[in-house]
Amino acid sequence: MIARINHVPLVVLLCLFPPTKETCPSMCLCTSDTVSCSASGLTKIPKLLPSISITLDVSHNQMSWLGPGSFNRMSRLENLWMAHNQINNLANGAFQNASSLRYLDLSSNKLQKVEQHYFEGLWRLEELILFNNKITQVEAGTLTGLSSLKKAYFSLNLITQFPFFSIQDRSHPFLSMLDLSSNLITRLPWQDVKALPGLVQRGLYLHNNSFICDCSMYSMFWHWDLRGYDSLRDFTDEHTCSISGEPRDSIRFLRYTRFFNNCTVERPVSLPVTVLLSKVLVSEGKSVRLDCQTSLSSANLSFTWLSPSQGYITQSNVDETLMSLFANGTLEIQAAKVNDSGLYVCTAEDIKEALNATREINVTVLLPEVESYSTGYTTLLGCVVTMVLILIYLYLTPCRCSCCKQPNPPVVPIATYEPANSMPIFSASTADREKSYMNKHVAFMQPMLSEEGPEWTQES
Ligand SMILES: *[C@@H]1O[C@H](CO)[C@@H](O)[C@H](O)[C@H]1NC(C)=O
Ligand SMILES: *[C@@H]1O[C@H](CO)[C@@H](O)[C@H](O)[C@H]1NC(C)=O
Ligand SMILES: *[C@@H]1O[C@H](CO)[C@@H](O)[C@H](O)[C@H]1NC(C)=O
Ligand SMILES: *[C@@H]1O[C@H](CO)[C@@H](O)[C@H](O)[C@H]1NC(C)=O
Ligand SMILES: *[C@@H]1O[C@H](CO)[C@@H](O)[C@H](O)[C@H]1NC(C)=O
Ligand SMILES: *[C@@H]1O[C@H](CO)[C@@H](O)[C@H](O)[C@H]1NC(C)=O
Ligand SMILES: *[C@@H]1O[C@H](CO)[C@@H](O)[C@H](O)[C@H]1NC(C)=O
Repeated sequence: MIARINHVPLVVLLCLFPPTKETCPSMCLCTSDTVSCSASGLTKIPKLLPSISITLDVSHNQMSWLGPGSFNRMSRLENLWMAHNQINNLANGAFQNASSLRYLDLSSNKLQKVEQHYFEGLWRLEELILFNNKITQVEAGTLTGLSSLKKAYFSLNLITQFPFFSIQDRSHPFLSMLDLSSNLITRLPWQDVKALPGLVQRGLYLHNNSFICDCSMYSMFWHWDLRGYDSLRDFTDEHTCSISGEPRDSIRFLRYTRFFNNCTVERPVSLPVTVLLSKVLVSEGKSVRLDCQTSLSSANLSFTWLSPSQGYITQSNVDETLMSLFANGTLEIQAAKVNDSGLYVCTAEDIKEALNATREINVTVLLPEVESYSTGYTTLLGCVVTMVLILIYLYLTPCRCSCCKQPNPPVVPIATYEPANSMPIFSASTADREKSYMNKHVAFMQPMLSEEGPEWTQES
């Protein structure tokens, strides 16, 4: 009884002053959102770390494993540096409640097998750094769910096989760097590698492995070389293969291709090609269709147009009131304006094959009234008379100067062209000419008005 009573004040005390959660362990340095416990002899992650931390540095310590929920209370943690420890295993749920992680550095540790559950729940992770471990195997599900991954480094390990098939067309849309260099890979599953998204192939580093020379290997690298990938350019001499499996007879196969003379290398299906410039004439107010036919013929192309007046036009930002972008890449300008003239460049992109091809079209929008200066002199005269009448009318109207300085009414000549009758591409059919001739004086007045504008303000 007495003992129980004695405990009461302690319980009350604990309730009033719970152990403060934002303490900084004595061996660490804490700033606003960063905790550094680097090189302080840690054997495990300290229990009470400030829960508001975004960056935690526990590199250069003696930790040998990560227990479940090691970062449970650190739900804001984004950067975790654990390089240069002795970590050889991660418990199930080691990163439970650390789903904000974007950057995880486990390089220079003692990991041997990367198990499926290791990075579970880290769907925001962008960089995974595992180089210089003792990894021999990467389990197939390891990268599943890491859908934000941009860069993954597995270099300087003992990997002989990698589950390329777990990276599919849309599973890792941002993955642009997969470093498997300096491992022990002898043969790659070429079908799986060929099926990798183009972005991943472009960022796949495979130099300094233990490849055995054969035609399928050569064929793949030959294609990548043709496309000028940096991974090959920057490490030309580190791409070696051995003829008999003996490291002694390694050849630098990007430099010395003689050995592969007998290989039949598949011809590239299509290479980036600029289709020769073509020219399109369209008269103002008409609609025009610009096709994007290039050397690429895959059914799965995405198209981007660069237009002189609208900038980049894609399926997602096309201004439907002015233009339509069809699934086959054809761009339709509904009513061409003079300032739509210029060079239109379409880029067709085959994302899977990482191939681009461009098509260029020089569009000239013709002003019908330009014609009328030379041929329709009487129409010009008639219009000038109309103008003078309008001017007289305006000046006779009681009006203060502020009224005259008002901006000109918007120029909308299009309405007079009956867009319903528009032709896809300017055609000089006589019926058309007659129609535009009939409308000439209406369309012609507007530019005259805007030319006169500044004069009014000067006079007043
Ligand atoms: C983990 O997060 C969940 C919800 O985000 C929370 O309910 C739970 O208490 C957290 N676990 C720990 C041990 O903090
Ligand atoms: C090649 O890989 C081995 C280990 O597999 C490593 O020791 C060596 O430094 C690497 N060489 C280069 C040039 O990266
Ligand atoms: C290529 O084929 C020729 C003729 O079939 C043969 O003599 C030669 O040894 C082959 N070269 C290699 C590297 O296999
Ligand atoms: C092109 O001209 C139209 C009117 O004719 C105008 O509304 C538009 O802002 C102009 N665009 C550019 C980029 O100058
Ligand atoms: C593209 O699609 C549009 C609309 O479906 C069609 O009118 C046009 O002829 C097509 N162009 C080509 C080059 O296939
Ligand atoms: C293709 O074009 C897009 C943008 O238009 C660019 O981001 C991409 O890098 C290009 N790809 C190649 C293989 O040139
Ligand atoms: C496009 O055509 C116009 C008119 O014919 C010409 O002045 C211009 O130089 C051409 N632009 C290009 C890029 O060929």
